[in-house]
Amino acid sequence: MGFNHKANSCSMLQLFLLTCSCSCFLLGFCTAIDTLRVNESIQDHETLVSNEQKFKLGFFSPVDSSYRYVGVMYNLPVMTVIWVANRDTPLNDSNGKIEISGDGNLVVLDGKRELIWSSNLSISVVSSSAQLLDTGNLVLRDNSNGRTLWESFEHASDSFVATMKLGTNLNINTNKRNILTSWRSPSDPAPGRFTFTIEPLEIPESFIWNGSYPYWRSGPWNGQIFSGLPNMKSFYKHGLDLVNDSPGNAYLTFTHLNSSIEIYYVLNSSGVLQEKVWSDEKGDWNVTRLSLATDCELYGRCGPFGICNAKGKPICNCFPGFVPRSEEEWDAANWTSGCVRKTPLLCEEGNSAKEDGFLKLKKVKLPYHLKWSPTFIEECRGQCLNNCSCIAYAYDAGIGCMLWSESLIDVQQFSSGGADLYIRLANSELGNKKDQKAIIISTTVLSFFIILLCVYFMWKFSLKYRGKMDTGYPTEKILKDDVKFEELPLFKFEILSNATDNFNLINKLGQGGFGPVYKGKLLNGQAIAVKRLATSSNQGVEEFMNEVEVISKLQHRNLVRLLGCCVESDEKMLVYEYMPNGSLDAYLFGSDKKEFLDWHQRVMIIEGICRGLLYLHRDSRLRIIHRDLKPSNILLDEELNPKISDFGTARIFGGKEDQANTIRVVGTYGYMAPEYALEGRFSEKSDVYSFGVLLLEIVSGKRNTRFYDDEQGQSLIAYAWKLWNEENVVKLMDQVLYDPKMKTEVMRYAHVGLLCVQEKAKSRPNISTVLSMLSSEIVELPRPTQPAFLVSCSASETESSKRSASKCSVNGVTLTIGVGR
Ligand SMILES: *[C@@H]1O[C@H](CO)[C@@H](O)[C@H](O)[C@H]1NC(C)=O
Ligand SMILES: *[C@@H]1O[C@H](CO)[C@@H](O)[C@H](O)[C@H]1NC(C)=O
Ligand SMILES: *[C@@H]1O[C@H](CO)[C@@H](O)[C@H](O)[C@H]1NC(C)=O
Ligand SMILES: *[C@@H]1O[C@H](CO)[C@@H](O)[C@H](O)[C@H]1NC(C)=O
Ligand SMILES: *[C@@H]1O[C@H](CO)[C@@H](O)[C@H](O)[C@H]1NC(C)=O
Ligand SMILES: *[C@@H]1O[C@H](CO)[C@@H](O)[C@H](O)[C@H]1NC(C)=O
Ligand SMILES: *[C@@H]1O[C@H](CO)[C@@H](O)[C@H](O)[C@H]1NC(C)=O
Ligand SMILES: *[C@@H]1O[C@H](CO)[C@@H](O)[C@H](O)[C@H]1NC(C)=O
Ligand SMILES: *[C@@H]1O[C@H](CO)[C@@H](O)[C@H](O)[C@H]1NC(C)=O
Repeated sequence: MGFNHKANSCSMLQLFLLTCSCSCFLLGFCTAIDTLRVNESIQDHETLVSNEQKFKLGFFSPVDSSYRYVGVMYNLPVMTVIWVANRDTPLNDSNGKIEISGDGNLVVLDGKRELIWSSNLSISVVSSSAQLLDTGNLVLRDNSNGRTLWESFEHASDSFVATMKLGTNLNINTNKRNILTSWRSPSDPAPGRFTFTIEPLEIPESFIWNGSYPYWRSGPWNGQIFSGLPNMKSFYKHGLDLVNDSPGNAYLTFTHLNSSIEIYYVLNSSGVLQEKVWSDEKGDWNVTRLSLATDCELYGRCGPFGICNAKGKPICNCFPGFVPRSEEEWDAANWTSGCVRKTPLLCEEGNSAKEDGFLKLKKVKLPYHLKWSPTFIEECRGQCLNNCSCIAYAYDAGIGCMLWSESLIDVQQFSSGGADLYIRLANSELGNKKDQKAIIISTTVLSFFIILLCVYFMWKFSLKYRGKMDTGYPTEKILKDDVKFEELPLFKFEILSNATDNFNLINKLGQGGFGPVYKGKLLNGQAIAVKRLATSSNQGVEEFMNEVEVISKLQHRNLVRLLGCCVESDEKMLVYEYMPNGSLDAYLFGSDKKEFLDWHQRVMIIEGICRGLLYLHRDSRLRIIHRDLKPSNILLDEELNPKISDFGTARIFGGKEDQANTIRVVGTYGYMAPEYALEGRFSEKSDVYSFGVLLLEIVSGKRNTRFYDDEQGQSLIAYAWKLWNEENVVKLMDQVLYDPKMKTEVMRYAHVGLLCVQEKAKSRPNISTVLSMLSSEIVELPRPTQPAFLVSCSASETESSKRSASKCSVNGVTLTIGVGR
């Protein structure tokens, strides 16, 4: 039996079929038109169309070819194939068929019913069916349990579409990498020479290979973009993300941020990665070239220690301090053998490694073969300097410290973007002569200048203390021994004072961790938020420095962005981007703004916070524990995107450390995990606890600490737990948006929330698992165990008979942490 579905066939019927298609696998009697079943087949002139008619499965012939192939295509007037089944084995007539075979495989047969292609399942199943999803994924499922047996998204052809995952170790069963393989030519879908892969290196990078030779590389992923593609902003705009949740496992994926824009990526048969955006006016795809836009992007164009500048003539140059290995070849524009050092390194001659120095190359594409080191910028240089085999280092806020010990290859000069690379050179190459006389002379001259400088600075400081000096601060290295500020733009006090109308109370936005926050406007019109350390506050200094240290290293769309700081005499201020919608608590708990946050908006906020937290815990590679997550520390931008703020109490963990103790417990009552509040033990899991509380608050629109059910003194968590046991968690949903249609999703969110607030830190999921649970990647959620209830003293006293309670002191307030039995 065959069937032919034309686009725009009866839509009522489709609606009906849509609603029942989920139950089809189990019941096996209703026919959904996007599904192929046992004893059905698709013939050459027929297609299987996905539910919303976005994609179709059927036969096609490439341009200038008469062979027939089976593929998944966009359901558009322009033939756009995203996946091909029988790439190597074309049919030479139109008698082919697509079927489900007796052993459960999806197969393509020719006119003589001989096997042309098979999904090659490793196990045999009694009955299966294939469904074409609206994402373009063709999925083969076991009818007896609905389990996915095979999917086209895990066997990519040359195209990368939304929700697909390209990378490694995705499917633990097959241990297979999912890569793009180009067509041999536009008329031949057989695997060509070019492949696009995500390499699960310490810091993942993507590559295009010509056979087994690297052809192009993207540079390391810095948490937002591939750092070697400074023009990659459009990728980011389209929701591209690289997930690197465990060593050796990294995959690239993207989601449609704007459903009215259809976009996908393809590796074409000449090895060029293209971005294709559908244009309705044109009725065709708009194509942008992403790789190899210039000759410089060819991998290793200028050889080892060569640097390529697309605007240069010639394009290749040696690094400073290096000369061509072969002048002849170099002059003949054959750059492959690269450059060599002019002067050997002192450390190579047996001197101390510290005898060498570093030269900074600005705005370059970082070379291949980097090693990541879990250190900060201050130690990064020292770590490289002390080891003679380290020949370069770089520091990127999103990656951290990178070291190189092999030859430096594939370096490109950009005019903007890129990163700064510090290369090791002999001191003499840095302009320091070995000559004894020169050293003596320069030392004398230097000492003279140092004395002069000291005198000058002493004079300036004495002026400042008399309050006579108002401006004239150098914008760099104001605190020479304090590297932390070196990276940050410095604002003059005067400018910030003007911007905030002399810190006018009218402009006060609120009270941050260590001082008031003011709204301001710079002369160029940019709105800013200025956090001013209260001059009286001694304790605040530590938190101020901590915030600078933590946040100046971070960059993520769900973290508030630090624009700079101001450090002048007694004044210490931090300048942030201004968030017009204030903090989440005003929206969530203020009755007048509540309605702005519909369910969809809340889901976006929860997910955003989760991504920000994931970045802090994992992707930033610095492992930061925030320690004070709560609605008032979540700021909302003009589109209500959440941004985590207030890093005054955050802690950075070293490489292998994953738990720490503190005597000074800081944080906020109601959001602190029990092990932290009671024993000062904090870890990623204590942030997960706070996130769980936050999640339950966002779902319910109620504060954990000021929540009262009919039974007095019950926290929101206790209430959620009670509802869970009554199998009625949907009641948790905020009254203002109650909608029975959302039931399953609300239940899922509440379920995840309860998993996060479990009493034992060990049983709480880590944040990357939380994200997968929220996005339904993980379908089967474990049952939560009893949460830890944080109850106020009075509440606990009234219920003391029911609870085992212990007393502790947090922030000078005596709390009772009661753990229900
Ligand atoms: C498929 O066809 C065979 C032979 O006609 C029949 O025995 C079998 O029951 C059919 N299976 C289904 C699921 O209809
Ligand atoms: C088509 O392919 C079949 C085998 O797959 C072969 O026997 C036949 O000769 C081919 N026909 C043409 C016209 O190439
Ligand atoms: C399926 O297995 C056969 C035999 O091992 C092999 O020739 C064929 O290429 C495989 N097909 C796919 C799609 O992996
Ligand atoms: C790919 O590699 C092959 C063999 O090494 C070479 O002949 C060919 O020119 C390369 N293609 C490109 C586009 O560089
Ligand atoms: C989505 O894209 C369309 C077309 O480019 C644009 O008009 C619309 O504003 C976009 N929507 C959002 C939410 O960005
Ligand atoms: C591949 O893409 C590049 C850039 O868009 C284009 O110049 C080239 O012609 C394409 N190759 C083929 C075979 O279409
Ligand atoms: C496609 O390209 C045309 C011309 O370059 C441009 O005007 C149009 O906005 C583009 N459409 C999309 C959807 O990007
Ligand atoms: C460039 O130099 C390399 C190494 O010396 C040599 O193998 C290669 O043939 C040369 N290429 C050309 C185009 O001369
Ligand atoms: C120096 O660096 C090399 C290469 O990165 C590494 O193998 C070696 O262990 C380092 N030596 C020391 C003493 O750190």
